[in-house]
Amino acid sequence: MDSLPKDKPLFTPGPLTTSLSVKQAMLRDLGSRDTEFIGAVRELRDELLRVGGVSQQGGYEAILMQGSGTFSVEAVIASAMPPAGKLLCVVNGAYGDRIVKIAQVHGIETVVQKYRENELPSVEAVDEALAADPEIKMVVTVHCETTSGIINPIEAIGAQVAKHGRCYFVDSMSAFGAVPLDFEAAKIDFLVSSANKCIEGVPGFGFCICRHEALLETRGWSRTLSLDLLAQWEGLEKNGQFRFTPPTHTILAFRQALQELEEEGGVAGRAARYEENYRTLVAGMRSLGFVEYVDPELQGYIITSFRYPEDPNFQFEKFYDLLNEAGFVIYPGKVSDADCFRIGNIGRIDKSNVEALLEAIKDALAKMQVSQVGAMNAGA
Ligand SMILES: Cc1ncc(COP(=O)(O)O)c(C=O)c1O
Repeated sequence: MDSLPKDKPLFTPGPLTTSLSVKQAMLRDLGSRDTEFIGAVRELRDELLRVGGVSQQGGYEAILMQGSGTFSVEAVIASAMPPAGKLLCVVNGAYGDRIVKIAQVHGIETVVQKYRENELPSVEAVDEALAADPEIKMVVTVHCETTSGIINPIEAIGAQVAKHGRCYFVDSMSAFGAVPLDFEAAKIDFLVSSANKCIEGVPGFGFCICRHEALLETRGWSRTLSLDLLAQWEGLEKNGQFRFTPPTHTILAFRQALQELEEEGGVAGRAARYEENYRTLVAGMRSLGFVEYVDPELQGYIITSFRYPEDPNFQFEKFYDLLNEAGFVIYPGKVSDADCFRIGNIGRIDKSNVEALLEAIKDALAKMQVSQVGAMNAGA
């Protein structure tokens, strides 16, 4: 792959390794009112809808929002929750917890259905909560919970939300662009992701894909100025411009990244490479004795949490440093009930990078004199 040789491949959930051509696309200085830039923004918004399998004519909108992914999550919560009413948060990881926190900051009442981080949420529980409580106006869940790598049943949850006529918001930050999704079948009203995940751009903005009708209903509800989703959309529609300084370089990189997604065969093509990375990783890690935190049937191919080896010689910091010295960047764990580290399969990395990482892991274990890899806390 063509990333700059001095950069270590990033086996993380983002920012990710990007192609040289994506980085080179930023070597421009376009003004925010420049016609070329405005054209790029329009192109990006249309292309994002295409990646999502929907269109503006079909009743969907794509809105770009400055900031990291969390800003876009907050934009939806703070803009699309009506002034009164509750938010049902279906949570099985840290990013679900963060959504609860965002709602609390804005004084929005929440109903939280909380699950263990390697457990799928109950679709029936969503149905029951909505049947029992008409004050719940919106349901939110995370598509790929990047905390563990589990893939949540967003279509099945969406069917329940639609049955009860409520609004449905999906945080698809680490899945959009690489995990096939039938937007309309999943009955999604609002979905967010960001530039530096599976589309393989660089950090700087997030985006929301939403149903036009659901967006228009939010008029007058926004609790913030800068994260006002409807105002942002109106600005983009009116003159193609952002209301406040846009991340011009990031947008140019993203335009290139979207072109490369298309060249790779769109969502299906990207999914195929990431799945190959995942299969190679898991087979290699298992042969070294590592155990995954999430059951393989629930595990997605985006990122995998591995339990620490039981050998007392294993120290994550040392392991991380040895891999870093060997030229590989992995990621600490985030689950709350087991000691784990994470390895991401996304970004401009392929099977050969994963194979090289596996060799480095083998060497690091030998250097640390770790022989008993079979995982700790495997019952957790
Ligand atoms: C599912 C999910 N939601 C939200 C976020 C937050 O995104 P950011 O760190 O860009 O604010 C992340 C980041 O990895 C994520 O994976």
